[in-house]
Amino acid sequence: MKVAIFYFSATGVTHQIAQEIQNNLQIQDSNDPIIVNMFNILYPSVQAKSVIFSDYDVCFFGFPVYAGRLPRIAEEWFLKQKGESCPCAMFFTYGGRLLENANQVTYHLLTRANFRPILSAEFLGRHSFNVAKGWKLCEDRPNAEDFHIAREFSQKAIELIRNPEVHFQINMDDFHYTPAVLSTSTQRSAFHPSRFGEGCSMCRQCEIECPVNAMNADTGEVHLATCLQCMHCVSICPDHVLKIDDVTEKFPNFMNRWHLTSEIVAKKQSLFYSSYPEKKMLLASENQHRNNTIHFFGEKI
Ligand SMILES: Cc1cc2nc3c(=O)[nH]c(=O)nc-3n(C[C@H](O)[C@H](O)[C@H](O)COP(=O)(O)O)c2cc1C
Repeated sequence: MKVAIFYFSATGVTHQIAQEIQNNLQIQDSNDPIIVNMFNILYPSVQAKSVIFSDYDVCFFGFPVYAGRLPRIAEEWFLKQKGESCPCAMFFTYGGRLLENANQVTYHLLTRANFRPILSAEFLGRHSFNVAKGWKLCEDRPNAEDFHIAREFSQKAIELIRNPEVHFQINMDDFHYTPAVLSTSTQRSAFHPSRFGEGCSMCRQCEIECPVNAMNADTGEVHLATCLQCMHCVSICPDHVLKIDDVTEKFPNFMNRWHLTSEIVAKKQSLFYSSYPEKKMLLASENQHRNNTIHFFGEKI
């Protein structure tokens, strides 16, 4: 069996989940060994590659949630793909706030490109903005439990592609897809990376690896309209001179605005499901939830 995992990962969380899925599938002891190829579409060279999806038995698509949807470049990448009815499972990583429309946007893009979605999952991960002084969300995620869910999710996806009776439901009522647009900001925000101080060795890695070609290594500034604020350049800078602002004062406002406390965030769990959002069917952590009314493909477990 051939499996591909296409994902976008700027600060490593989505990559960690993708890797757990890959490792879990590759160790399956079966007569039909599973070969898993991974592609991080953060890299411009990977974005440019044309993919023949009919070469794969199933694909996984994994994205960090950015402002309740996908990184803009991931949406643009999808618009160029032809799914050829390839079954696929989607997963999201998020920094403890919300998924909002990420499921609907991805479902729309997948079905439009002729993929066949079968399962979805969400995983807690340390927030990309933790690179800033004063921002602390999900610092210890993904943890062992999140990885456990990732293994169960990958297992379930393989089981489901062999089952033609899969009923995958995303509620698309009142959802209208509007393409992601470039930012109109003309002023640098606290979350735009910038070079601070001396010490840049001019390795240009930030410029080379920027997923949207927004970084100018000569000036140490990003193009404000195109920068995704994904924090990739900040997290890979070997000289630690690329930074975003100290957001110590902004962080409490953010937490209040979204009604979050560290206790609320710590209680959030990774899950996978075949229906979203109002009948979120929990297919994982079954032991923990056995006493709740949770349905497994319509049957009580
Ligand atoms: C620009 C931007 C917007 C984000 N928006 C959200 C959000 O709406 N909800 C949320 O919970 N996390 C949000 N996050 C946090 C990321 O989804 C999370 O940290 C993710 O796991 C990072 O994945 P990566 O390390 O693979 O890049 C955002 C991060 C960035 C950079």
